[in-house]
Amino acid sequence: MYPNGKFDQGRRSFLKNSGMAGGVLALGPLAASVAAAGAAATVPPKGKYDFDKPHNRIGHDDVKWDAALRTEHLGHLVAGMGIADMDFRCAPAITAALRKRIAHENWGYLDMGAPGPIAFKNGLIAWNRKRYGIEVIDPDLLGITTGVHAGIICALRAFTRPGDKVLMATPIYNGFYGDLRYTKTVAEESLMKYVDGRYEIDWEDFERRMTPEVKVSILCNPQNPVGRAWTREELNRYGELCLKHNVIVISDEIHCDFIMKGQKYVPFSTLENKDVVANSFTMKSGSKSFSLAAMKCAWFFSTNPKLFDAAIEMNHADLNTLGMISEQAAYAGGEGWLNQCVDYIDANQDFANRYIKANIPMIKVGRKPEGTYLSWLDVTAVADRIGAKKLADEATRQAAGSGARLGQDYSGRQAMVARKPVTPEEMVGHWFAKNAFVQLNPGNTYGYGGANHMRMNVATSRKTLTAALDSMADALKKLA
Ligand SMILES: Cc1ncc(COP(=O)(O)O)c(C=O)c1O
Repeated sequence: MYPNGKFDQGRRSFLKNSGMAGGVLALGPLAASVAAAGAAATVPPKGKYDFDKPHNRIGHDDVKWDAALRTEHLGHLVAGMGIADMDFRCAPAITAALRKRIAHENWGYLDMGAPGPIAFKNGLIAWNRKRYGIEVIDPDLLGITTGVHAGIICALRAFTRPGDKVLMATPIYNGFYGDLRYTKTVAEESLMKYVDGRYEIDWEDFERRMTPEVKVSILCNPQNPVGRAWTREELNRYGELCLKHNVIVISDEIHCDFIMKGQKYVPFSTLENKDVVANSFTMKSGSKSFSLAAMKCAWFFSTNPKLFDAAIEMNHADLNTLGMISEQAAYAGGEGWLNQCVDYIDANQDFANRYIKANIPMIKVGRKPEGTYLSWLDVTAVADRIGAKKLADEATRQAAGSGARLGQDYSGRQAMVARKPVTPEEMVGHWFAKNAFVQLNPGNTYGYGGANHMRMNVATSRKTLTAALDSMADALKKLA
């Protein structure tokens, strides 16, 4: 937390930039015109919970806002729209349960065989059955860990050896590349096709890459960053190909709740072919659905004891008491909040997509994302206009002059590491931060096919989203 003075300053700047000074929203001229011209679908839905009121996160050491201010050397920010968490106050049921446990004022080790952890596991099974129709989770083949990354790293350690390849349809969530580094495995990237405004797997290329060195494929379902909610047909094809070529599927379903209207989340474990399902390992967590990333609680399951046993052996993780309590409370009492939140995100995705198409000609977007609260922006024209390539080359030259830096090596240890070349997408990111006071994620970090793109997170109040889009549109207008 910042010392009070700085926090207050951050709060004032947040209110000013979110258009909320004095508690009154000042809609930008562009937003007003879009709101007037837009269909009713873009109006944020109302309900029991207030997602409309901007919630100031500045001063709490969060990546999305504070790190953006720090790393971009900014005095204020209209919106942090990078890392995948949400700006909303969490479901009240979570806060109530945490308050109750905190009142006990003792933080000893948790007994994993006690009624609490057992009820937690049973609750997960019941939630997955009721909400998604997943019938196959056996409590003995359900593991708890400290995050989806921790689980994926266990699975990769169990299913691969250093040097083995991991097949992914790209662009794909950048965190997977970190998991590969930790396990010394190598990415085999199959570039997706862009067809009629949405991404599809290039099946011929995907199968062609299934050489004997490929032991695992990481599937992101629904897909971060391109927002696909894979159909049953696509998942069947994915699963059958992997089975045929002895490639184990790790299905990361952390974004499963953010499914837009007219789309569907198909859990990989509900595919009809039992052999396909037995060739898979599913990772899930409430951390995206209820924005509980800081609570470090995730789980995995497989119908195949061989896969599960191999992975659990690599999992040296206890259940975090606060993580368990928050997720348990979320599943027990947060469904109404979640449903309203997903509707709110759906309307935000609709709004952002229409807004950009109508008002920001230098940014291209495809169809409205089918899933996730992320939007994938083609910023080729912005990169060209600001000379991002040249700026990146110059920044790389300058950084090279300052030698190696202290960072993390592949095993996470502090070490002197070589500076990576600065990318044009990073320069586009700096440009938006400095000129629109909006932070986005550079697309090149999402692997092959990510160049000339930025990822934008719309899980925020409509007011903040509107202010951010207005600010981006205004900044780009000055460039034109
Ligand atoms: C697809 C995907 N998997 C995993 C994670 C990280 O999960 P965790 O924080 O539980 O390790 C993210 C976070 O953005 C994600 O988008």
